[in-house]
Amino acid sequence: MNILILGSGGREHALAWAIAQNPKCDQLFCAPGNAGIAQVAECVAIDPTDGDAVVEFCDAESIGFVVIGPEAPLAAGVADRLRGAGILTFGPSQAAAQLEASKAFTKEICDACSAPTAGYARFTDLAAAKAYVQEQGAPIVIKADGLAAGKGVTVAMDLPTALAALDDCFDGAFGDAGAEVVIEEFMEGEEASFFILSDGKNILPIGTAQDHKRAFDGDEGPNTGGMGAYSPAPIMDRSVTQKALDEIVKPTIAEMARRGTPYQGVLYAGFMIKDGQPRLVEYNVRFGDPECQVLMLRLGAQALDTLLACAEERLADTQINWADDHAMTVVMAANGYPGDYTKGEVIGGLDSADGNPMVQIFHAGTKSDNGQVVSNGGRVLNITARGSNLQEARDRAYAALDGINWPGGFYRKDIGWRAL
Ligand code: AMP
Ligand code: GLY
Repeated sequence: MNILILGSGGREHALAWAIAQNPKCDQLFCAPGNAGIAQVAECVAIDPTDGDAVVEFCDAESIGFVVIGPEAPLAAGVADRLRGAGILTFGPSQAAAQLEASKAFTKEICDACSAPTAGYARFTDLAAAKAYVQEQGAPIVIKADGLAAGKGVTVAMDLPTALAALDDCFDGAFGDAGAEVVIEEFMEGEEASFFILSDGKNILPIGTAQDHKRAFDGDEGPNTGGMGAYSPAPIMDRSVTQKALDEIVKPTIAEMARRGTPYQGVLYAGFMIKDGQPRLVEYNVRFGDPECQVLMLRLGAQALDTLLACAEERLADTQINWADDHAMTVVMAANGYPGDYTKGEVIGGLDSADGNPMVQIFHAGTKSDNGQVVSNGGRVLNITARGSNLQEARDRAYAALDGINWPGGFYRKDIGWRAL
């Protein structure tokens, strides 16, 4: 079958790399893609949030399956548009994508199914929100309700920070996304992510991971989209995983179905874990980036079979053949990221890991320019490796990094510190 992936990041390169290896895949396309994706798929200049353009392309190229990578097309209803046109699609409906697009909606779902999460209150009025924060005290967490490109959450360790975050939200710093705020109890513990496929009714867990959100070593510096990740997450042991499934994930999937908005796609659950008890921090309705890179390296070609089974509502009969392995990805970003940075710098040594089945270099912000690969974004490369244990995966990833020649890039040297 011909397959189309929507997106252009390291997540989509990892998906394309895994899908292209599966014999079920005939022609692979990606919209819009990047320089790395162009090595395994044909990149097409289509806006992934433009449902009409995507459907038109699918008709023209006889696309049998569409895999949606990022949240923006999902929140825009592109999955509904595709299914409406009779095209098999991986990714939740606009209604189900509310689990990421509205923090208040997720809290409602948690209430309805008694899933453990932080206590909270919702406000559309600044004075009332401030009064509540004064009464609760710090630490406290302020969240813009809607999608804010990962910038809408302030974990405030003191009251002035919390009050300033409320001012920002109601002053329009996040546009419509900040018209309502969710104020949450601060949860202590260790964070981990869990990725679960759901076909609306049945689920199939496809891996745990931990990422590093801060820009610099020692988890210092500003928040980013993620500077590295590893899988599996040691803290997600058998007991924590079972509790997460029984108390949070399965009740959420059942509640979404009960409301007539079944969840079909990958559910990315972020947990705070303390004393062996997971509590929900947030849901995302897509794979994590860079978490997807480690999951795809571990799954390989069978990833396509699982995504197809999810879209075709066959998860009840689907299994994953897990190797007893570990994977790590280290992000190379442009100097200055997540602030201002330069684009268009030539990157050398990208073929230095070629032929090594344990290492893959997934591209994020890259493009081709006169036959050379140049930087074209903040997060640019994901050096991804696997091994029989995390240390081996880590050693391979950092060894491969040494082969890359890009003086304008930086990376963290301590990915995986907590687990090693
Ligand atoms: P979110 O976008 O909701 O995942 O929030 C971003 C980050 O803020 C999370 O990954 C956590 O590190 C932190 N965070 C969010 N909510 C809480 C909470 N209630 N308590 C402690 N930390 C939180
Ligand atoms: N790495 C965090 C995310 O994808 O949201």
